Amino acid sequence: MFSIVIFLAFGLCFVDSQFPRVCTSEASFRTKTCCPLWKDKSPCGSLSGRGKCIAWAASTAKKIPQYNDDRLDWPRHYYENTCECFGNYSGFNCGDCKFGYHGEKCDRKKIIVRREIRELSALEQRRFFSYLALAKTTKSQDFVVLSTGDRHHRETYRFVDASLYDIFAWLHYYSMKPIMINSTFIPEKNFAHQGPVFPGWHRLGLLFLEREMQRLTGDEDFALPYFDWRSEKNCTICTDDLMGTNDAQGVLNPYSHFSFWKAICSGFNFQDEYCPLADAEYKMERLHRRPGTTPYAPNLPTLEDVENLLKLRDFDTPPFNETSLRSFRNGIEGFLAPDGITLKRSIHNLVHIYMGGTMSQIPISANDPIFILHHGFIDKIFETWISKYRGSPDSYPENNEMGHRPNECSTPYFPCYRNKDLIRKSLEFGYEYSAFPRKPPLGRNGFQ
Ligand SMILES: *[C@@H]1O[C@H](CO)[C@@H](O)[C@H](O)[C@H]1NC(C)=O
Ligand SMILES: *[C@@H]1O[C@H](CO)[C@@H](O)[C@H](O)[C@H]1NC(C)=O
Ligand SMILES: *[C@@H]1O[C@H](CO)[C@@H](O)[C@H](O)[C@H]1NC(C)=O
Ligand SMILES: *[C@@H]1O[C@H](CO)[C@@H](O)[C@H](O)[C@H]1NC(C)=O
Repeated sequence: MFSIVIFLAFGLCFVDSQFPRVCTSEASFRTKTCCPLWKDKSPCGSLSGRGKCIAWAASTAKKIPQYNDDRLDWPRHYYENTCECFGNYSGFNCGDCKFGYHGEKCDRKKIIVRREIRELSALEQRRFFSYLALAKTTKSQDFVVLSTGDRHHRETYRFVDASLYDIFAWLHYYSMKPIMINSTFIPEKNFAHQGPVFPGWHRLGLLFLEREMQRLTGDEDFALPYFDWRSEKNCTICTDDLMGTNDAQGVLNPYSHFSFWKAICSGFNFQDEYCPLADAEYKMERLHRRPGTTPYAPNLPTLEDVENLLKLRDFDTPPFNETSLRSFRNGIEGFLAPDGITLKRSIHNLVHIYMGGTMSQIPISANDPIFILHHGFIDKIFETWISKYRGSPDSYPENNEMGHRPNECSTPYFPCYRNKDLIRKSLEFGYEYSAFPRKPPLGRNGFQ
């Protein structure tokens, strides 16, 4: 078994998300082109009808000045030509399939079921942890991450290796840095939070990790688990069999799975850096967690909180930021209470703060695998809202927030996924959620 896993790790190519190693050559940046050759030796597999190299510059003529953010109008600062894939094909070189499709011709549809971590058998739980260990220690063959100590100086930008799991954590970190316009940072604006993109951006992140883990292990049926935290008295999955216990300082028990994991991009407090120590593992912090000890977040959200949240019919409302009222997005993100009218920490944000340590430092929070379980459940609530209100790309609001406009590419993913296109039933992306019935009060919305 072990040798098969290793063979697959090096024998397959990874074809999603940031930054494609082949597109970080001097020639790629000079020509602003990321249209790699596929197996048939043509860019984007065009000879085989998989896709074609298209120019972004033609559709959006504005130039991004040097002193503005490199992520604006993604991916145009880096590439004006990228692959557009046809039919069921996807990936930065169209060598991959859209989420939910498999096979050489991507014509095999498959639905996997994401289950609550406590629904998994002991064997399935062990498998999840060993896959994670592999993802944390296997260098990505196809992707590198961007690192710099000074965002104002483009000549200091460099691309460094990272493991598959660290690429996932980095995606979140990179998207969350404040937007820089004319050398000035706008702290409350970023590319994954505080706006309509929040649920879809995180959905895409989980899909990315799930598929890379399937590929790494050769296990096409692998599905990420979730943690249904509603009305839990404490962090019930913080046992040494599952996510790990911690001491009073927040240090994870050495007998638990993640105690020696290091957090990429830790020491993130400087808004003008992009993960400057990405390749200096010895300087990264270990994971920390202190569930239930933050005075203003002593409890997890309740069954009733989620019931009330699901009464919010509008996906998002003006001004499309953390002050939006009667907005499902602001409610699930957790700047708005489930009553829809009180601005206070709730649902998603509350769970991050409740967990303490690494999880409560939101930019680096994806380093703690409990992030996956939490966001799996957030995505399940999102999915319930989509079913209940027949959510679709049309539910996504017109708005003018940088990075959050409906037709912008979700930043920094490859290939382009338009923000609005992430409001679709999960079955379209090849997965669904198990029901995980809870004790009364039973959901009036039928949410299980
Ligand atoms: C995509 O996959 C579906 C489901 O297997 C198949 O019916 C369809 O023909 C495929 N589309 C293309 C364009 O290959
Ligand atoms: C940045 O500054 C330039 C020159 O002062 C100005 O023309 C431009 O509108 C500014 N851009 C933004 C987005 O504020
Ligand atoms: C949660 O509460 C139970 C019962 O009071 C206790 O045994 C357990 O240690 C607690 N777990 C954590 C992570 O605090
Ligand atoms: C939200 O948007 C409104 C209207 O544009 C603005 O006045 C307010 O400062 C914004 N608040 C935050 C926290 O971004």
